[in-house]
Amino acid sequence: MMRSTLSLVLVVMMMITMIVAAPIEKRGKKKTYKGTATWFLPASEGGSTGACGPKEGNHSPIVALNHPQYGNMSKKSKWCGKKIRITGPKGSVTATVNDACPECKHGDLDLTPVLFKKVIGDMDIGVGKIKWHLA
Ligand SMILES: *[C@@H]1O[C@H](CO)[C@@H](O)[C@H](O)[C@H]1NC(C)=O
Repeated sequence: MMRSTLSLVLVVMMMITMIVAAPIEKRGKKKTYKGTATWFLPASEGGSTGACGPKEGNHSPIVALNHPQYGNMSKKSKWCGKKIRITGPKGSVTATVNDACPECKHGDLDLTPVLFKKVIGDMDIGVGKIKWHLA
């Protein structure tokens, strides 16, 4: 009797811990990264297949993640397929990580022209400051 009461208390405590801990973990995943956005042309530069595998073109809503965050570029990164929300001076977009950017620094993203125009503006600008987080 004593023992079953104790285990019931333990189970309830574990459930409370799980309920309380879950939102904290979720908030932790919303870490914001800052960096520089550039643009690239998958069709003529990186090739029609991203480092992650799926096909990509100049109009795909995809980004190439900087090398330090992507990891080994000859492998599929844990970032592959992740949706991210990018905000720049022009606006915000949601994009999918599908490629790696070898020369990009931590926090940087290489965008397709369609995304660059929405986040930074005219392609002539070339680069712009961005913030992004997992969507
Ligand atoms: C990257 O992955 C490839 C393929 O698995 C492996 O051969 C190579 O050694 C790795 N490079 C690094 C720096 O870990």
